[in-house]
Amino acid sequence: MEIKTLINEQELTTRINEVAKQIQKDYNNEEIVLICILKGAVFFATELAKNINSSVIMDFMKVSSYDGTKSTGNLDFTLDISQKIEGRNVLIVEDIVDTGRTLTYLKQYLTSKNPKKLKVCTMLDKKERRELEFTPDYTCFDIPDKFVIGYGLDFDEKYRNLPYIGYIEQ
Ligand code: IMP
Ligand code: MG
Repeated sequence: MEIKTLINEQELTTRINEVAKQIQKDYNNEEIVLICILKGAVFFATELAKNINSSVIMDFMKVSSYDGTKSTGNLDFTLDISQKIEGRNVLIVEDIVDTGRTLTYLKQYLTSKNPKKLKVCTMLDKKERRELEFTPDYTCFDIPDKFVIGYGLDFDEKYRNLPYIGYIEQ
């Protein structure tokens, strides 16, 4: 199995820094509750947080909808946030938007908790694959319809630790 590079580490960190600065500005340097969606967004969320020079509170949620490379269509919320988000500035941080299911449901769920501001930031967007209409507020990279791995993204739990975004040539 050959892994090809789609986005290298330098391109990733440069773009993540750019998006972080935009987020900081849009949130008026106010405190942000950054909700990292486990496990895939963990590398991206930490890089993003390190590049925001205002107060960032880290929180985590776990939502699973995938089994191998296929969407099962079922969402499983297995870990909820630990912070109260009512009246606070919230940013959901996700690895990739594919069908749009995860973020559509997640956004509905978090909106019901009445945050002051709620935006979505994704590292990657595979627009072609959308089943539910969903547009993230911040996207680092739009990518073609390929199954990608690395920088947090897995194939059956493997390859998350690759420091770049790759794809498997089949
Ligand atoms: P959605 O609910 O279909 O938008 O799926 C989003 C989730 O599917 C992401 O959080 C990923 O965990 C997973 N996913 C979608 N595409 C890929 C991929 O190319 N590689 C690895 N995981 C993916
Ligand atoms: Mg995921």
